[in-house]
Amino acid sequence: MKFFIDTANLDEIHAARELGVLDGVTTNPSLIAKIVGDPANFTYQDFKDHISRICDIVDGPVSAEVTTLKAQEMIIEGEDLAAIHDNVVVKCPLTIDGLQAIRHFSEKGIRTNATLVFSPNQALLAAKAGASYVSPFVGRLDDISTEGMTLVEQIVSIYRNYGYMTEVIVASVRHPQHVVDSALIGADIATIPFSVIRQLVNHPLTDLGLKKFMEDASVMKK
Ligand code: E4P
Repeated sequence: MKFFIDTANLDEIHAARELGVLDGVTTNPSLIAKIVGDPANFTYQDFKDHISRICDIVDGPVSAEVTTLKAQEMIIEGEDLAAIHDNVVVKCPLTIDGLQAIRHFSEKGIRTNATLVFSPNQALLAAKAGASYVSPFVGRLDDISTEGMTLVEQIVSIYRNYGYMTEVIVASVRHPQHVVDSALIGADIATIPFSVIRQLVNHPLTDLGLKKFMEDASVMKK
């Protein structure tokens, strides 16, 4: 399974890369808004420069989301974003216009990530339109008392039934159990906030065991 980091924070991306387990990055307008100092001075060019900096850090897919709603506008914006770097993946919402844009990008060889996916039918449409990635948002479904992981199971099984090549990115990951479940189901990717990536490392028995090993090792003469 591949690990993406779900952030636009360059320090977090650097730190995750240092762990040696990072395969890519996903961003969205809300994550970009978090890194903006003064919104009055943040331009579209600043956004593109920021995506370019992320691409310099990680040699893997970097999702950059369109910020327009009409297919034609998404196409113009997405082509512009794709021109930043070969690793840029254009993230489009799962709407009628988003599907039209995904189909266009697919025909032009531009990779896409269908985002804000909350149902198996939306995922089926994304695959049929030629999306490279589909992002079911498990945490947001859990938030409304709907089992997010059931959606991932359904999508993985539907894609297997028909041999769709669209890769499943488990998104809106909130805790380590989401990562375990994603791996058990066989999702291709989990995009994980940095705080959760750090949690994956921790286990109290590892800490206890290491403390004892260090104490016992201290009797050795060096
Ligand atoms: C996916 O690509 C999104 O950026 C992200 O996972 C959304 O997560 P959230 O529900 O925590 O905002």
